[in-house]
Amino acid sequence: MTAYKQVFTALIGLSAMAAFSGTTVAADAKKGKEVFERICAECHGPMGEGDKGPPLVPLLHQPDGMIAIARAGKGEMPPWPRATVSDDEIRSVAAYLKSLGDGS
Ligand code: HEC
Repeated sequence: MTAYKQVFTALIGLSAMAAFSGTTVAADAKKGKEVFERICAECHGPMGEGDKGPPLVPLLHQPDGMIAIARAGKGEMPPWPRATVSDDEIRSVAAYLKSLGDGS
């Protein structure tokens, strides 16, 4: 009975976490849209379809990979300092781009 109760409590905890992270992802994508349109869309297109820069939809990078590329710069793309776009903002941009299409 005690073991059953523990499993039950763990399940409740997990579903609460799932519900919570669901909300976070939605909020992130919304923030990411704003950041993307302000900074990245000029070169990557308003919907990430590409323009002066390559398409970012479907997104082939993990959020941490995007942060690394953004900090280092790539080819014609200048490096983006934290003062311009924070790690969190880049993660939100990744969430937004994912929400536009995952390539499937
Ligand atoms: C001034 C134009 C410009 C802006 C603004 C810009 N980029 Fe880029 N970006 C480029 C170009 C050009 C490349 C291609 C570089 C290369 O491969 O030579 C690129 C490449 C990338 C790549 C690598 C794509 C790949 O798969 O090789 C990522 C990721 C990326 N940009 C993310 C961003 C994000 C996030 C922002 C907004 C914070 C942004 N870029 C803003 C021009 C831009």
